[in-house]
Amino acid sequence: MATRLATVRTSANPQVTSDASWWRDAVVYQVYLRSFADGNGDGIGDLGGLRSRLPYLSWLGVDALWINPHYPSGGADGGYDITDYRAVDPDYGDVADLEALVDDARRLGLRVVLDVVPNHTSDRHPWFQAALADPDAPEAARYHFAPPSAEPPNNWQSLFGGPAWSRTPDGRWYLHLFAPEQPDLNWGDPAVAADFERTLRFWLDRGVSGFRVDVAYGLFKDAGLRDNPGAYSPTLFGHGPEQAMTWNQPEVHDVWRRWRSICDEYPDTMLVGEVCLADLEQVALYSRPDEMHQSFSFRLLKSPWSAESFADGVRTALDAFGAVGAPVSWVLGNHDKDRQVSRFGGGALGTARARAAALLVLALPGSAYLYAGDELGLPQAEVPDEAKLDPIFFRSGGARAGRDGCRVPMPWNADRGVGFSADDAATPWLPIPADWDQYAVSRQARDGGSVLTLYRRALALRDAHPALGSGDAAVSRRGDVLTVRCTAADGSVVRCVVNMGSETALVRTRGTVLLASTTGVRRSAGSVALPADTAIWLAEA
Ligand code: GLC
Ligand code: CA
Repeated sequence: MATRLATVRTSANPQVTSDASWWRDAVVYQVYLRSFADGNGDGIGDLGGLRSRLPYLSWLGVDALWINPHYPSGGADGGYDITDYRAVDPDYGDVADLEALVDDARRLGLRVVLDVVPNHTSDRHPWFQAALADPDAPEAARYHFAPPSAEPPNNWQSLFGGPAWSRTPDGRWYLHLFAPEQPDLNWGDPAVAADFERTLRFWLDRGVSGFRVDVAYGLFKDAGLRDNPGAYSPTLFGHGPEQAMTWNQPEVHDVWRRWRSICDEYPDTMLVGEVCLADLEQVALYSRPDEMHQSFSFRLLKSPWSAESFADGVRTALDAFGAVGAPVSWVLGNHDKDRQVSRFGGGALGTARARAAALLVLALPGSAYLYAGDELGLPQAEVPDEAKLDPIFFRSGGARAGRDGCRVPMPWNADRGVGFSADDAATPWLPIPADWDQYAVSRQARDGGSVLTLYRRALALRDAHPALGSGDAAVSRRGDVLTVRCTAADGSVVRCVVNMGSETALVRTRGTVLLASTTGVRRSAGSVALPADTAIWLAEA
């Protein structure tokens, strides 16, 4: 297991220092740029707003931030339909703002990771426009077109609903595994690979610390465009054999080897892949030593609240990633899933469980990805249908609620509406629920019992205790109680015990309670009474 190598931060010298393995146990904070902080008062989060909030992220105690796509976009899928990969959307600022952000962050000890989207472009990308205008243009070979015919070339479905093929105005079919505004690129065309290499270098030359790679299990498709054997269900952990023709083609691993070699030219940079495959052993193959540094483990993001399911998710991930020598990249929330508090039952119950889950994930060895707002315990927001923007909502004819409810702007200041915008009178791009001042950072920072305070304490303890975040972990379960015993290289041990049942559980220990996710924990000689939906960290003597 990795020894702890993360930057040691002191208030006197918080700068980022060189560390080639920083990502192995980093806590990475995911910034949904459009919703983080609006610096110019137009109701849209931007780079200036994010820069002004960097001291908050440093105070919170994270190591790095990953920013959702900041590129000019067609606006069809929350920025994941890009029109220019080497520019900044004017809504967010410009390239100089991004450089300034990277510099400011570095001074505060924070690294910046960008999102890169290689599976598809926007339909407004100049390549696709050229391909539409002329079927014989070289750009047409960079996408998947099929000649006009009555039926689409195969049975492939869009992940957002409906067929994965749409027609061009002149009757050709083109492939889009997501929205029709997101035509899939043909990675068999060398011009595509060459252009992405330029993009990577463009941003690496500006000092970013790496990339989160969107849909990294995509890119290549079955060469014969054969029918998929079955349909995908969003209730599965990820794609499997039923979707064998569209995902996880063997050729894709060569792309990650090439990208890895580019990153290796830039010190301290890394790649983390979004690989939504059900089989974690397959996911881990994307982070073999010569491929991406990490691939997300989404198992806990999709696990119901049960010790059995969480124990299985933790064990499976540790085994699968351990087999390739990669740390696990734990994820409890992101911009694609309902907020944890709501997923785990909502209200006080959901909040208690989300607090406990945070302690579990922050104890486990590996890196942890925290989604902005989860540290405030934000619930899934009710977004009225007329304000919704997510293509999932529209393409499912309203049957699926879509992802807008986890993308609502951050509440910062309870005295100023919620203080998201520099201009209090600005209309936020997605409506913020009227009672969200209760979650504001300004309020929670002063409250010793808040979710924010819990996260901040946990992150400080994770920095101080080598067993947390980078130890060797042994997972055990007794009924509804899940225990992870983390042992550091120096022999120190911290146990994380989570009671996922509905009755108080007695935990035998002579150790010290470092942190508890709720206030109801009772200590007596030789044991701790752990209430339902509660986690503790125990330093073992
Ligand atoms: C990834 C992103 C998601 C996006 C999709 C298409 O899954 O996380 O937000 O819609 O890719 O780019
Ligand atoms: Ca703005």
